[in-house]
Amino acid sequence: MSFLKISENVFWIGKVDDRKVPFHRLILERGTTYNSYLLLTDKPTVIDTVDLMYGKEYMDNLAKLIDPQEIEYIVINHVEPDHAGALPALAAKAKKAKIVSTALGAALLKDMFKLHNREFIVVSDGDTLDIGGEVLQFFETPYLHTEETMITYSTEDRVLYPCDLFSTHIATYELFNDLAEETEYLEDFKVYYNLIMSPHRPYVRDMLDKIKDLDIKMIAPSHGYILRKDPGKFIKIYDEMSYLKPTDKKVLIVYSTMTGNTTKIAQRLSEGLKAVGVESEIFNLKNTDWEELKAKISDCDGLLVGSSTKYGDMVGAVEEFLKSLQDGDFKGKPAAAFGSYGWSGEAIMYIEDYLKEAGFKVINQRYMIAGQGVDTPILPLRIKFVKEDGLEKADTAGRVFGEQVLVNA
Ligand code: FEO
Repeated sequence: MSFLKISENVFWIGKVDDRKVPFHRLILERGTTYNSYLLLTDKPTVIDTVDLMYGKEYMDNLAKLIDPQEIEYIVINHVEPDHAGALPALAAKAKKAKIVSTALGAALLKDMFKLHNREFIVVSDGDTLDIGGEVLQFFETPYLHTEETMITYSTEDRVLYPCDLFSTHIATYELFNDLAEETEYLEDFKVYYNLIMSPHRPYVRDMLDKIKDLDIKMIAPSHGYILRKDPGKFIKIYDEMSYLKPTDKKVLIVYSTMTGNTTKIAQRLSEGLKAVGVESEIFNLKNTDWEELKAKISDCDGLLVGSSTKYGDMVGAVEEFLKSLQDGDFKGKPAAAFGSYGWSGEAIMYIEDYLKEAGFKVINQRYMIAGQGVDTPILPLRIKFVKEDGLEKADTAGRVFGEQVLVNA
């Protein structure tokens, strides 16, 4: 199948990949589709492309509908290779096309594909682009599921092009959801949400807020079924799956400090936790009954352990206290390390080692890279000399850790 008309002047020009597709350390048993769209307006526009390995086939199919030299805009919602992979092939033929993306998206595309000499249009939240007979509107959707991502809405045609959102990994040739039984795809739609989007739940809530007033006739995502029948139902499913009911989860924050900076971090972590609905209690080990504290740790839903660094090591009673936890039953309980520092800041490494040995599920850099695609991981949290920008980081770290506690069943 080389193309399919999905609306007046709008064509699906994607690729159905019916292999078992390796993806994010999973195997997509039912394959997937890479949905690219051509809007044949006065200023022809392509929205996203297909996977890197199908560039030639993609260009051959596109040429059946339009001379690529006539394309004026290429919108790239997301830079992962299953969306932007065929951009070099397309850009080489669509020589005058301007590439439309977020600021971060544009920077990444230039570096990834050596497109420094191409003209880019950088868009931000709510910006519009008149493509002649249609006006596109863009919404930034960071971390859904990587930092540079955006979504596109055609205001005349009322089609939402939400990139990875509202997708399913199924290699369907039918493409429209009204041509399939709901049982064919609904479970996959929810599994997709849980695997790809749920780690970024707060950002899903932001996205839902941004699209809540749009009149959406059809959702044309990047993978799987185009949701022509009842698109509102699928938005509601995302709403239900991303909504967290109030909980009684509680985190303990335990620390030792040299100058009081680690105390300030503990307080801001607590505020971050509170912002996502998680209560906390703070303990300075110097003034605490350890036996009572250990009993509380057994009952709590997460633990944050902090220390300043002095001479490359933890301070106060932190090490002794962590040793005393080694015979407890903390398997799978989320935990993370934090601390202030002036020169080196090794304390967080040693805290993590003890937490792992005691059986805690340590939320750390490795998780952050995998879950959010961030360049600067926030946990373990290490702040130099603790100024206001550092404390803002502590607030964010509290929120991130709180999210982990909330989803830790
Ligand atoms: Fe469809 Fe983020 O890849």
